[in-house]
Amino acid sequence: MRKVTPDDNRAGPAGAERAGAAFQAAANAALEASSLFSYRLPSANWKTETAQPRAARLFAGLTQLGMAVCMEPLTLNDIESAAELVYGFMKPTPQYRWPLLTEAIGAQVWVKHENHSPIGAFKVRGGITLSQWLRREHPEIQGVVSATRGNHGQSIARAAKCFGMQARILVPHGNSVEKNAAMRGFGAELIEFGMDYDEARQEAERMAAKDNLFNVPPFHRELVRGVSTYGLELFREIPDLDTVYVPIGCGSGICGLIAARDALGLDAKIVGVVAKNAPAVKLSFDSGKPIDTNAAKTFADGIAVRVTVPEALAIYSRGADRVVSVSDAEVAAAIRLLYRTTHNLAEGAGAASLAALRKERDSAGHGKVAVILSGGNMDSEWFTKIMSGGVPAPN
Ligand SMILES: Cc1ncc(COP(=O)(O)O)c(C=O)c1O
Repeated sequence: MRKVTPDDNRAGPAGAERAGAAFQAAANAALEASSLFSYRLPSANWKTETAQPRAARLFAGLTQLGMAVCMEPLTLNDIESAAELVYGFMKPTPQYRWPLLTEAIGAQVWVKHENHSPIGAFKVRGGITLSQWLRREHPEIQGVVSATRGNHGQSIARAAKCFGMQARILVPHGNSVEKNAAMRGFGAELIEFGMDYDEARQEAERMAAKDNLFNVPPFHRELVRGVSTYGLELFREIPDLDTVYVPIGCGSGICGLIAARDALGLDAKIVGVVAKNAPAVKLSFDSGKPIDTNAAKTFADGIAVRVTVPEALAIYSRGADRVVSVSDAEVAAAIRLLYRTTHNLAEGAGAASLAALRKERDSAGHGKVAVILSGGNMDSEWFTKIMSGGVPAPN
């Protein structure tokens, strides 16, 4: 890992405070959740340079008790060993520089094609590492349960099957019909519950306790370790990238990218992207503490979250340069641009990165940039609507 110093402050002085505050919020949230602890962390204004030693101490204490609060940083060895495992189940995905896209943006634009993975999204990688970890650490577990809008669920269903476990997947009512079909295709028992992702997530937690299943959370060190392998591929191929744009939902994707960059000792700026009408992550990033919202209304379902994951926030608060929000109309326009210039289909969350780059193209300079095309799983009906100039209404 890159050594953290007082100057190591990618987001300026405000970033240091934000990282400290986010870390503390993460730690306190986890401590609160544990009946084993009756104290809170001191409310001192934590600085970046002290956050890591504190994280290490806290982490050591809590992992002894089986709790992971602040994710132990991933080493290059962790990521490379994950890649070795992942490549037993899929090939690395390509990163291409598309001339027409480069021309349209006015910068060298690389696309990381996670839409070319075996489930059409980057999530596939984390399912593999998590399932292997689960088999090793908890061989008694026969099945998993998890909530999803689709890609996480496909990943978990596919990997659970490969590792000999049952997968029960919860989706909110009105979820993507084609993603639901794909999850069933990968062997999931699919249950519709609640009006949005976060309601389905609470039900998954309840079912796990009731039916003795392992509840796969949306954010877990093993998920991050798995998905960090896409970052390793990208940064090894193009180590001199200036900026990478990546969508943020619950945060595994951006945290994996940060881990890969840091493990390789590179300097690329990482810019997180959220939907304007699902602003929890941006509000949290800007204020340095987890903020939840009442609604997350965007057709980019992979980033339609209204609850910020504190452990993830603690990482991207320090590792990301900024978080940009994009409207659904901007995302739809990015899907059209990507299709016209590369003939690849991105789903809403998958095109959010390009939408943000496009939005910032005048202010962000003309360096070497990459956008993470994190997934391409969009229902045909929405694709038709977007390609004829429309913007789908969120479910
Ligand atoms: C295509 C796509 N992009 C981005 C995301 C957000 O990823 P994360 O939750 O790891 O931040 C998701 C989440 O499911 C997704 O499916």
